[in-house]
Amino acid sequence: MGKNIGIRIVGDPILEKKCKTVKTLNDEIKDIIEDLKTTLAFTGGFGIAAPQIGIDKKIVLINVDSEKCYYQDAEEIKDLILINPVWKNVSNEKYSEYEGCLSVPEIRGKVERYYKIELEYLDENFNKQTRILSGFSARVVQHECDHLNGIVFLNKVSKNGFATKKTIDMFNLREI
Ligand code: NI
Repeated sequence: MGKNIGIRIVGDPILEKKCKTVKTLNDEIKDIIEDLKTTLAFTGGFGIAAPQIGIDKKIVLINVDSEKCYYQDAEEIKDLILINPVWKNVSNEKYSEYEGCLSVPEIRGKVERYYKIELEYLDENFNKQTRILSGFSARVVQHECDHLNGIVFLNKVSKNGFATKKTIDMFNLREI
């Protein structure tokens, strides 16, 4: 059972660092994975990246529960661990939608992302995987991979793209 670790908030230098590639799957990495799972379950976001719990390593956890989701095109993804993820767009189509972030309390803003991506990563057993994702799940992956490069979504919000408190409440916009 992992620990629930306090989420680092924007302004913390670790959120601006480039993360390190994971070289081997050892007990330290397994513990980080468990901590990510426990912390995300506790906080209720759709995804979390290791730097958000103070770890500068390329590890991400995605957990999209489509039922509770405002995003219409959300594909259900349960506890997907991505180690050293890399993605590329498979078409040039982009779209804008609201994002939030566990590290940026209270704020939601529209960010343009690729609609469809091809994702390569190592899974929890350190096996190489490839997956095509589209819509909201592709958005979550792009958002979390930004964290591994020291980028927070705030930098990418389009002009006049920040949501009002009313909009956030109306659509129940959660953190990504
Ligand atoms: Ni985030």
